[in-house]
Amino acid sequence: MPVTTLPASRSEAATPRQHHRRYLMCRPEHFTVSYRINPWMEPARPTDTALALRQWQALYDTYLALGHEVELIDAVPGLPDMVYTANGGFTLDGVAYGARFRFPERAAEADHFNTWFTGHGFDLVVPQEVNEGEGDFLLAGDLILAGTGFRSTGDSHREVAEVFGREVVSLTLVRPHFYHLDTALTILDPVVAEGGTATVAYLPEAFDDASLGVLADLFPDAIRVGAEDGAVFGLNSASDGRNVLVSPRATGFAAQLAERGYNPVTVDLSELLLGGGGIKCCTLELRG
Ligand code: ARG
Repeated sequence: MPVTTLPASRSEAATPRQHHRRYLMCRPEHFTVSYRINPWMEPARPTDTALALRQWQALYDTYLALGHEVELIDAVPGLPDMVYTANGGFTLDGVAYGARFRFPERAAEADHFNTWFTGHGFDLVVPQEVNEGEGDFLLAGDLILAGTGFRSTGDSHREVAEVFGREVVSLTLVRPHFYHLDTALTILDPVVAEGGTATVAYLPEAFDDASLGVLADLFPDAIRVGAEDGAVFGLNSASDGRNVLVSPRATGFAAQLAERGYNPVTVDLSELLLGGGGIKCCTLELRG
């Protein structure tokens, strides 16, 4: 990793520092594409479950090699999308706000995740409103960034604000291929230096104009990612504050990360992209 000198304009930005993470993942034992609830999914196209398992294993192994903890939830036959654990809920301060899926095909996953949360020491809040967990809720410092437009409703943004007593910033997604917030925005470091803001990267084309204004105000230093990197799910990345796990096809984004002093670590989940998910989708952060 070459030593990177921060440009003068960013001299106050702290050098990226790694934070320990605890994640929940689900082995894609039953992975396939048997229905279509996002534009990436084509049920007629064959999937290779063995390949999905090998690619998923590489992600799991990478987290462990970086020193993180990974918990597992059992895969359930007939629920092929359960591998995308980010949608299973949103956790903060030992509280798990459960999911309520938009489409009936995934509805049954919610109870399995809820059972996991209560069995692992989380206080469970069963939601009234439709929301798809960390797919649409991302912690940025004290703020919760919340996506809407395709899956989680605006009412769930109000609900999550009440549950956690945090300020929630609503962002509207407008491109069907980027239907969850975590497909269009990555939190690079949620820890905020005194007087600063969390560091994020995002795909401008995925948001409406009002949301772009909000993002520009909140995160003037954000990395704006190009369309080509967005199209290979480059934004569906997981960062520990220093190491950023990113698709090997998002070469432009990886270069932008390296320029800022982050360490891009490539993991290829091409088979899981057939279901419309990538690295972040397969990763739920557990904040006890
Ligand atoms: N097939 C899944 C769905 O459409 C993919 C979910 C991806 N998850 C995510 N956090 N973006 O619901």
